Parts: sequence; structure tokens; C-alpha cells
Amino acid sequence: MYGHVATLAESVIKGVEASGAIVKPYQIQETLSEEVLTKMHGGASLKPKYPLLTPDDLKEVDGVLFGCPTRYGRVAAQLSAFFDHTGGLWFTGGLVGKFVGMFTSAAGPHGGHESTALTSMPFFAHQGMVFVPLGYTHPYVSELNTVHGGAPWGASTVAASDGSRQPLPEELELAEFQGKSFATFVSTFVRGKHLATGEVAGTTPVAAAAAKEVPQQVDSQKDGYSVPPATATDTAGTAATTTTDKAPAPAGDTTGTTAADSAPPPTSAAGAPTTSPATGAAAAQQPKKRGFFARCCGGGNID
Ligand SMILES: Cc1cc2nc3c(=O)[nH]c(=O)nc-3n(C[C@H](O)[C@H](O)[C@H](O)COP(=O)(O)O)c2cc1C
Repeated sequence: MYGHVATLAESVIKGVEASGAIVKPYQIQETLSEEVLTKMHGGASLKPKYPLLTPDDLKEVDGVLFGCPTRYGRVAAQLSAFFDHTGGLWFTGGLVGKFVGMFTSAAGPHGGHESTALTSMPFFAHQGMVFVPLGYTHPYVSELNTVHGGAPWGASTVAASDGSRQPLPEELELAEFQGKSFATFVSTFVRGKHLATGEVAGTTPVAAAAAKEVPQQVDSQKDGYSVPPATATDTAGTAATTTTDKAPAPAGDTTGTTAADSAPPPTSAAGAPTTSPATGAAAAQQPKKRGFFARCCGGGNID
């Protein structure tokens, strides 16, 4: 409404771009009338710089960072109204497994920097989304000498009750950091998933064959969230990984493909690829393709 979140968003966008991922900026539909906005000394939201977000837009992306000013310690009604428009996505599982992060703005240092994200958790949980916090991954989150935004939940700024305070350079740096680390995290997961399952657009036999040649040993302790160097058989480029992967498969490379490899992965009713635990003799015969996927996610049982 007053531009603070929009300013943070520009830094978040820069950070996502710096990661090599594709970013698609949107604005949330304003719900207040011009008359009310004028009385509130706002109104920039009536002239959107970016396209208005529709629920369908979320189908195309692997992750979304919602920026929203706090209202009484939770998201503004405008974003809440958008959440309420996503019933169709909920019904079809359209957001299941997509990553989500948040950044915010509050008038005071204790006005909602944490609770705005915290109170959005029911929406993310019900949609099956995976929240990616900022944590204390940047020293500015722990900096105590000045009044500023930035919480383990996400980047933020302190706007003052009259909105007179603008985002500090450090707050913007943190927002950029969040954009980059979020996108790197999402890209790492998506690439790992593709490499492990051969699940690229169209899931061709070629993609399955490529997946078999993935090196199995990735040191997650050493590499953290970093993306491993691409191999000759890695068809999923980083730039495409935070949106629907349209990476083409290399022509003619079908070596080593078996009938089982050629089969596309099972899909859920919503069309989302699913994985199921292999059992018995079939499991014993299956090549171990999931090393990177499991390790980058902490070695959990994610099959
Ligand atoms: C109805 C209303 C409720 C608000 N509630 C809070 C609040 O609970 N805590 C707080 O720190 N700021 C509160 N604010 C201040 C806004 O968070 C502040 O205007 C906003 O962060 C500025 O961001 P923007 O420029 O992107 O709109 C409230 C503002 C409005 C209009």
C-alpha cells in the first residue's frame, strides 16, 4: 500500500535472478476502494507495476515468495483474499510440494516481523506447501545494535507508524540474500528430483536413461544447498528449475534404456508425478538413483 514491501520485493527479485533461476514477479489484487485508499494516504497498489497474480499462475512455478505488509500481526486482507481464491488448487493438490517463503514490513520492531509468516502457516500446511525459512543464515538477522527488520522467518523492514522510514540498505541486502538462497534451495531440490527420477517435461526414455548416469556421491555437508556441477547427461538447466522444467532431452541418447526405464512415472489425479516405495525383488533390482535427492534433503525417507 505504501511501497515498503514493493521495495523489498525488487531486492528479492534481484536475488532470485542472481541464483540463475527464472523469477516471475506479480502483484496481489487490491481489494480496498480508491476512496478508502485515499483516506489511508495509499493508492500505489491501484497502479500495479506487475501483472496481478491468479491462482493458475502458481501452477507453473516450483516456489513462491510472498511479500506482504503486516496487518495486526498477520497478512493483509488482500493477500488473505487471494489465499481464499485458491480453493481449486487445494482441491486438485495443485500446490502440493511447492516451496514457499515470506518477507514483510511492519510499523514497529515488534509489530509482526515473525507473526505475519507464522500466522500464514495454516494456509501453507493445508495446501501441502513447504515453508523455507531464512533462519539465521545471514549475520544481519542477529545484529543487535540498531533497530531493523529481518527475522528467521524472512526479510522485513521497519516502516514506522507513519510509513516515513524506508528500507535500510542492510534490509534490502537481506531481502536479496533471501531471494538468492530460496531460489538456490528450490533449484537444488528440483534438479535433484529430476536427476533422481528422470522426471523432466514429457518424461522421455532419454530422460530416464540420463538419470541413471548421475553420480551417486554428493557431500551434502560440504556442498550445503549448492547445486552440483552439471554433467553431460544433466538435461535440467538451473535457469529452468524454479519454473516448470522445459529442458529438452538430448536427441538420440537412448543407450541403456529398458522398458521399465521408458515408462513415465505414475501420476496423481492432479497430474502431479508421484513416487511409490519399491518392494521385494523389484526393489532389490532397482538401480539406486536417489542418492542425491535423499542426501540433499537430510537423508530423510522421502520416497
Ligand atoms: C490496518 C492496519 C493494521 C496494521 N497493523 C500493524 C501491526 O499490527 N503491526 C505493525 O507493526 N504495523 C502495522 N501496520 C503498519 C503496516 O504494517 C505498514 O503500514 C506497512 O508495513 C507498510 O508496508 P507497505 O508500504 O508495503 O504498505 C498496520 C497498518 C494498517 C493500515
